[in-house]
Amino acid sequence: MRLHDKAKAILRQNDQGGYTLPTFGLYPYQWNWDSAFAAWGFTTFDPDRGWRELETLFSGQWDDGMLPHILFHRIDPGYFPGPEVWQGRGPIPSSGITQPPVAASFMAKMLVMHPDGKTRARALWKKLKAWHAWFMEWRLDQGAVCVTHPWEAGRDNAPDWDSAMRTIDVTGIGEYTRRDTSHVDPSMRPTKYDYDRYLKLVQLGASVNWDQRELKKINPFRVADPTMTFTLLRANRDLRDMGQSFGEDVTQIENWIKTLEDGAKTLWNENIKGYDSRDAHTGAFNGVLSNASALCWYAGIDNAEARPAVERMMDAATYGLASFNPEADGFEPLRYWRGPTWPIMNFLVGSGMEEMGISDLADRIRTDTRHLMKLNGFAEYYDPLTGKPAGGDSFTWTAAVWLGWAGDFPKSERGVA
Ligand code: DGY
Repeated sequence: MRLHDKAKAILRQNDQGGYTLPTFGLYPYQWNWDSAFAAWGFTTFDPDRGWRELETLFSGQWDDGMLPHILFHRIDPGYFPGPEVWQGRGPIPSSGITQPPVAASFMAKMLVMHPDGKTRARALWKKLKAWHAWFMEWRLDQGAVCVTHPWEAGRDNAPDWDSAMRTIDVTGIGEYTRRDTSHVDPSMRPTKYDYDRYLKLVQLGASVNWDQRELKKINPFRVADPTMTFTLLRANRDLRDMGQSFGEDVTQIENWIKTLEDGAKTLWNENIKGYDSRDAHTGAFNGVLSNASALCWYAGIDNAEARPAVERMMDAATYGLASFNPEADGFEPLRYWRGPTWPIMNFLVGSGMEEMGISDLADRIRTDTRHLMKLNGFAEYYDPLTGKPAGGDSFTWTAAVWLGWAGDFPKSERGVA
C-alpha cells in the first residue's frame, strides 16, 4: 500500500465515529491537541469528518470555557488515570486540565482547504474564543502562558519541569497501577518518580473541584511555557483573522495578541540564547533548549537571535529537531519528551519557519520528517539519532502530518494553507 493510503487508513482505523483515538491501547480516548491534528488530516480527504472531529471535541467544553485535555467518551480500563480520578466537571467525563491550544490554527487551515465549512467554523469560533479567554483569565504570568500540570504542555516529561516537580510532596498519594507501561516499553515512557507527581497534581486539582482561583493558591506547579505561549499567540492571530472575515468584533483578541507578544519576550533566556520555560513561583528560568524553543516562528515572532541555537540542535541530530537539546546533560534519545523527535512538533516548527522565510531549515525539517515515516512508518516519536520508531504505533497525528505536510506529493495536494 502507498504510504499515503496507509496514512489515511490509520485515521480510519482509529476513528471511533466522531472522534479519533491517538492510537489503540496506549491512548483509548479523545485527546485535545491530537484531535486538532486529526481534524486537519481528515480534511485532506474527508472534510465532513474533519469538522466533526472538532465539534465532538468542543462538545466536552466546560462552562468556564476550559477545553479538557482528555474526553472519556467510553470507559476503557486500559488507561490510568481515568475519570474517577480526575473528577472533571464538564458535560462529558473528562480530565481537569487543558492542552496546547492549536485547534483554532488547524481550523483556519481547514477553512482554506474546505471553504464550505464556514457555517460550522462560525459556530466553533465562539467556543474557541471562550477557551482562549479562559487562558487569558487564569493562566498568565507576565503575559506568558503557564501550565499547571506537565501533561498540559503536551510535553509530559520534558526537563523543563524537573525543578518544579522537585517541590511536589507526594505523601499520601496511595497505591495505583500504571497502564501505559503495559502498552509501551517503560524505557520510552516517564518514570515512576514522574508519575507519582503527575498523580499528586491531579489529586490537588480534584480536591478543589478544578476551581482555578483555589488551584492557583495550592498548586506548587506553575510554569510559564513556550509551548503554551507560542501556540496561544498563533491561535489568537488565526482566531482574529477568521473573526474579521466573519464580521466579528476582534478588539479583545487584538489585545490578547499584544499581551502575549510581550509575554513571549519574558521567555527569552539570554544565558542559553533561546526561549525557555520559567517557574512562575520563583521566577527562575529552567535553562532548557527544546523543540518548544523553536515555536517562536510559528507564533509569528521573527527573532533572528533564536536561530543559531535551534540550528545547532538540528546539527546535533540526524533527523529533524530533537525534543531536548542532544548536547545537554540528561538527553535520552528514546524517552518521550527528553530527546525523541516528534513529527507533530516538527510540523509546527517547520511550517512556522516556512511562513517566516527560513526556508533552508524548514525544508530540512520537513525532509527529515518525511524520511522518518518512509523508513519507519507512523510512530508516535522517533530516536533523533537513529530514526528508530518509539512509543505507540499507527499513530493518528503522525499520519495527519504526512497527509497535511510531510508526504512526498505536490504542495497543492497538501493541507498547508
Ligand atoms: C499520557 O497518558 O501519557 C498522556 O500524555 C497524558 O495526557
